[in-house]
Amino acid sequence: MIKTVATTPYQDQKPGTSGLRKKVPVFAQENYAENFIQSIFDSLEGFDGKTLVIGGDGRYYNREVIQKAIKMAAAAGFGKVMVGQGGILSTPAASNVIRKYKAFGGIVLSASHNPGGPTEDFGIKYNIGNGGPAPEKITDAIFARSKVIDTYKIADAADLDLDKIGTFKVEGMAVEVIDPVSDYAELMEELFDFGAIRALIASGVRIAIDSMGAVTGPYAKEIFENRLGAPEGSVRNATPLPDFGGHHPDPNLVHAKELYDDVMSKDGPHFGAASDGDGDRNMVVGKGMFVTPSDSLAIIAANAKLAPGYAKGIAGIARSMPTSAAADRVAEKLKIGMYETPTGWKFFGNLLDAGKVTVCGEESFGTGSDHVREKDGLWAVLFWLNIMAGRNESVAEIVRKHWAEYGRNYYSRHDYEEVDSDAANGMMTALRDKLASLPGQTFGALKVAAADDFAYHDPVDGSVSKNQGIRVLFQGGSRVVFRLSGTGTSGATIRVYVERYEPDAAKHGIDTQEALADLIAVADEISELKKRSGRNAPTVIT
Ligand code: G1P
Ligand code: ZN
Repeated sequence: MIKTVATTPYQDQKPGTSGLRKKVPVFAQENYAENFIQSIFDSLEGFDGKTLVIGGDGRYYNREVIQKAIKMAAAAGFGKVMVGQGGILSTPAASNVIRKYKAFGGIVLSASHNPGGPTEDFGIKYNIGNGGPAPEKITDAIFARSKVIDTYKIADAADLDLDKIGTFKVEGMAVEVIDPVSDYAELMEELFDFGAIRALIASGVRIAIDSMGAVTGPYAKEIFENRLGAPEGSVRNATPLPDFGGHHPDPNLVHAKELYDDVMSKDGPHFGAASDGDGDRNMVVGKGMFVTPSDSLAIIAANAKLAPGYAKGIAGIARSMPTSAAADRVAEKLKIGMYETPTGWKFFGNLLDAGKVTVCGEESFGTGSDHVREKDGLWAVLFWLNIMAGRNESVAEIVRKHWAEYGRNYYSRHDYEEVDSDAANGMMTALRDKLASLPGQTFGALKVAAADDFAYHDPVDGSVSKNQGIRVLFQGGSRVVFRLSGTGTSGATIRVYVERYEPDAAKHGIDTQEALADLIAVADEISELKKRSGRNAPTVIT
């Protein structure tokens, strides 16, 4: 039986860069998740009888919302739901399942790299038929609908056993519980030279993969241990837990420090990598070398032909605006297109669909390609291993040679979290007011060449996205960028991105923060960040 339930709207269901993100107690309010899911369905057209993919990163409240979503999909008229066993699908795996089985779309439950647990974060995101995050047109419609919603429909059915693989029925709708790993592992085998990577590992290169108690555990075990022959235990924190075992599943130098220290230690592994909560982010470290995500994108692009899936070469590269320009130099050399987009993976979708770019990346530990429409953590890790095998070089050798050839883009991001929202907005407004006066001004040895508030004109659909971050460009290729986070769940997060281009190989061995010190000081001078935020230092430096 299908029930129609009366409800009252919540006014705060605005999907951000990666869907709707709130604390679990907010999501657990009466009808909160239902209102949002129904608002998604009400904003879509033509899904009658079609397939919906559902899965999440296994965090606290995942199973509850999956049960609701299945019953609501049945009530809405979907013909079939494909759901990962145990409610598990990493974000890139969900994207792959949507594409592979030509589903109408998918609901991905995750708050990415944010902590999980009863008082931590939860999220719901809608992905369209190309496997990528819904474009603004749809998320705007979802938000508008959520503000006026007065009923939702749900099948009055028993909960489904999510742990059993097989096909079941809910109110006439088929529900297929699928193995969350196999389709994804198969795709990776098509893209990369598993034989060469297996030989690399067999030759004694020791790898450590940290799944951080989150969704990539089962994927990494199957791929690295079962298929590539890494010894058991090479994958750490491999069981997805509702609270990620207390980890903050964000693969960066702060939260994946243990892995980093291990790889840097004398007898530790030669290669280390970590993934975030939902498996779309990655961090790559080699002995003596942390690879910045911006460099990772550039190096993957420069060496793409080593991987069978990219043997014909890449069509173009896209990076988010705050990501360093390291990839631009590769695109220039390869004579292929280079696109600078606003922050957020959804902006890559059109470029990938149109075949204008093959690889894309963000400084926030996100790299990916046209194989799915999300960034993909394990894909990047496999790409690095494929490059190491193909060149027979270590991570450090590969990175140093890359810098020697293209120059080095010293790069760092400083985050100021949970800043008072008015103070943060005030800083951005003041910066905007100042933009026109900056060009030509000098700060010590640095001269401002240009300054703007980044606006993106999508070359495929012609849409324009304004106010995407303040850029201050200096002569010689250095720059600072300011923007406010769209994914934080309390207060405002100010992000300051600092970059210095250094062509001279003799100057490639400087400590990053030292190399950027003068730019960091200028960033504060221009923005009055410290004074306005009342903070002396960033919360996180990556
Ligand atoms: C952050 C990252 C951005 C990424 C997003 C989703 O968004 O900066 O690159 O796409 O998370 O993973 P922000 O909080 O900066 O809006
Ligand atoms: Zn993520």
